[in-house]
Amino acid sequence: LNNGLALTPPMGWMTWERFRCITDCELYPNDCISEKLIKRQADLMVSEGYLKAGYEYIVVDDCWMDKERDSDGRLKPAPKRFPNGIKALADYVHSKGLKFGIYENFGTYTCAGYPGMFEHVEIDVETFASWEVDYIKVDACYSYKTLSAMEEGYIHLGQLLNKTGRPIVYSCSWPAYFEPFGIQANYSVLAKACNLWRNWDDIDDSWGNVTNILKWFSKNQDRLNPYHGPGHWNDPDMLLLGNFGLSYDQSKAQMAIWAIMAAPLLMSTDLSTVEPRIKNILQNKEVIAINQDSLGMPGVLKMTVKKIDVWMKPILPIVEGSHTIAVGFLSNRIDGYPYKVDVRLSDLGLHHPRGYVLSPMCGRQCEVLNRVKGRMFLS
Ligand code: GLA
Ligand code: GLA
Repeated sequence: LNNGLALTPPMGWMTWERFRCITDCELYPNDCISEKLIKRQADLMVSEGYLKAGYEYIVVDDCWMDKERDSDGRLKPAPKRFPNGIKALADYVHSKGLKFGIYENFGTYTCAGYPGMFEHVEIDVETFASWEVDYIKVDACYSYKTLSAMEEGYIHLGQLLNKTGRPIVYSCSWPAYFEPFGIQANYSVLAKACNLWRNWDDIDDSWGNVTNILKWFSKNQDRLNPYHGPGHWNDPDMLLLGNFGLSYDQSKAQMAIWAIMAAPLLMSTDLSTVEPRIKNILQNKEVIAINQDSLGMPGVLKMTVKKIDVWMKPILPIVEGSHTIAVGFLSNRIDGYPYKVDVRLSDLGLHHPRGYVLSPMCGRQCEVLNRVKGRMFLS
């Protein structure tokens, strides 16, 4: 969407994957979807250095609403959990130097059963703008059954957002309601209508989920990648880092591949419990720089050797007139046996007669091996 926003993949924090639809604040005082949770995480975004690292948006996903609209038909937040209202919460988030995002659903209900935008699009857009929302995730549960109706509806909603005059990042979810059923979305329409879009199934907290998502995105990369770039991004869903399902190495792997794919980097974790070594991955400057590279090129799965996937993404040349490429190796092996993999630059389509300078990001051991052998050896 050519609205001047999301020129690099959006970075931020979102409630859903970690906090789901927890609404019982008596039983789960620290985890329930509430202004307390959002304020606490906003404070941590700043004090723990996430904002400085580039994580900017804080997005409240589903389950922030009251079950009914007010007598004027306006959305209202759950009164006990958001006693000061959404505008005050957005003000707080803004006072921290962060941007504020919210979730709604282009259908009769949200996926969790709260009021949807159906027949209320105008008034809801007006409400969000008056709350000074900077980002909106528009889901598609209980909605139209055809692609053309979705396209028309979402485009209309985008025009209304634009008319408010407020810069609002527009995240669309309709492809995720068609692609899993074998119906291909029209990505040229998406790229014009939305800043980012969820293509595929929700991520849950396990490595199996990450690999399933990567399998789908790599299988469909030729179809998706032409529409991926500044202002318009495919979204493979949130980062799992800091939660329960990924090991340390799997955490590095998700971060690395999301960076190479130029995917939105939306954390979903309790920032007060993230271990220092996981925080270091989330805030790794070089990895974030690859993700946020201004060319906005998507990554591709270039080859697979001995079940090791090799991902590549062109980035802005470090030296003018040269080519700079980020390369990621992702092992899909489950045998846990030590492996040596020998990849030649020519296997990756890198044929420059003057060769390449290798700048490894895999730690000291890897660097030594590269220098000694003059080839890309990974152990
Ligand atoms: C869908 C979306 C998720 C989340 C939930 C909320 O499943 O894909 O990302 O927003 O709805 O109910
Ligand atoms: C077999 C055994 C292993 C190990 C190797 C050594 O595979 O099951 O425990 O002793 O031989 O070659």
